[in-house]
Amino acid sequence: MTILITGGAGYIGSHCVKALVEQGADVAVIDNLSTGFQEAVTGGRLYVGDLRDRAFVHGVFARETIGAVVHFAAFSQVGESVKDPGKYYGNNIGGAAVLLDEMAASGVKNLVFSSTAAVYGEPEKTPIVENDPTLPTNPYGETKLAIEHMAACFERAYGIRCCALRYFNVAGASPDGSIGEAHDPETHLIPLVLQAALGARDSITIFGEDYPTPDGTCIRDYVHVCDLIDGHLKALAYLEQGGKSDAFNLGIGHGFSVREIIEAVKRVTGREFPVRSGARRAGDPSILIASGEKARRVLGWKPKHTEIDGIIADAWRWHKNKGHYSA
Ligand code: UFG
Repeated sequence: MTILITGGAGYIGSHCVKALVEQGADVAVIDNLSTGFQEAVTGGRLYVGDLRDRAFVHGVFARETIGAVVHFAAFSQVGESVKDPGKYYGNNIGGAAVLLDEMAASGVKNLVFSSTAAVYGEPEKTPIVENDPTLPTNPYGETKLAIEHMAACFERAYGIRCCALRYFNVAGASPDGSIGEAHDPETHLIPLVLQAALGARDSITIFGEDYPTPDGTCIRDYVHVCDLIDGHLKALAYLEQGGKSDAFNLGIGHGFSVREIIEAVKRVTGREFPVRSGARRAGDPSILIASGEKARRVLGWKPKHTEIDGIIADAWRWHKNKGHYSA
C-alpha cells in the first residue's frame, strides 16, 4: 500500500518523504510547488497539481493504491493569513475538503494531519495540554482547527480516523545536509538568525524585549524536524494498529527565548553579527511550550534532540552548504 504525502515538496513534508522512503515505504507525493521545491522531493512519485483540483486529485487516487495519507499541503504564514484570509480559507480548507472526499470515495481510512500550536491562540497556562481551550488568534490557526473539525465530521460519515499533530516551533534540517528549510520570504527566527550569521542579512531584529519572561523576549518550544517526522511515523503506525482519532502536541516541553536562540547561533556558528531591538510583532504570544506527554504516552514518541545547539547545528549545516533549492 502506498502512503500519499500532500505538500511533500515543502520543508516539513520533504523530511517526511525522505524518512518514509528510507524506511522502505512506497510513497506518492502531491504538491503544487507554489511554496515547495521539486528538488526537495528525494523519493517517491511526485504528482504536480493542486489539491483543490478535484479531477487531478481523483486521478492520483485512481492511479495509486493508497493506504494512508499524511496531509501537509497548506499555506502557513501567520502574518500573511491576517492580511489575506481568503487565500488561507480557500486553499487550506478547500484542499482538505477535496482530499477528504477522495479518501472517502476510495475507502482510505487513515489520516495524519499537520496541525499547529496556533490552534490554542494565546494560552492561559504553560505547558499546553491538548484539551486546553482552542481559540486561534489568526486565520492560519482558524483554518487548521477547522480542518481538525472537518476530519471529525468525515469520521462520523465515513469512518476516516485522524491524528492531528499540533506542531510547536519546527527547526533544524536533515543531518546529512541534503534538505532543509527554504521559505521565500523567510519569517522564522532560526533561519533568519543563521542568515545574519552568514552575512546574507546585515542583522537580526528582536521583536519585543518587554514580554513577561526572564529576559523579556518571547519563549518558544523548538522541535527538530526529524523528531517531528518521527511523530508522524508513530502516528501512522498507531492508526494502522486501530488507534482512535486524537490530537497530539509535538514539542519537546522546554522553551528557549529569542535571546537564547541568538546566543546559541553565535555559539554554534562561531560568528558575530549585529542584533537590533525592535517593536513587538502583532499577535505573538509571550510563551508557547508544549506538554508532549500525551504523544510520548500514547504514540511512544521520544524526541532525540532536546539540546538547542544540536538543532541549530543541523540547520547551520544546511544553510551554510546549500540553503536553497535550484527551482
Ligand atoms: N522573532 C524575532 N525576530 C525575527 C523573527 C522572529 O524576534 O526576525 C521572534 C518572534 O517574535 C517569536 C519568535 O521569534 O517570538 C519565533 O518566531 P517564528 O516566526 O520563528 O515562529 P512563531 O512562534 O511565530 O510561529 C510558529 C510557527 C507557526 C505557528 C506559530 C504558533 O512557525 O506556524 O508558531 O503560534 F502558527
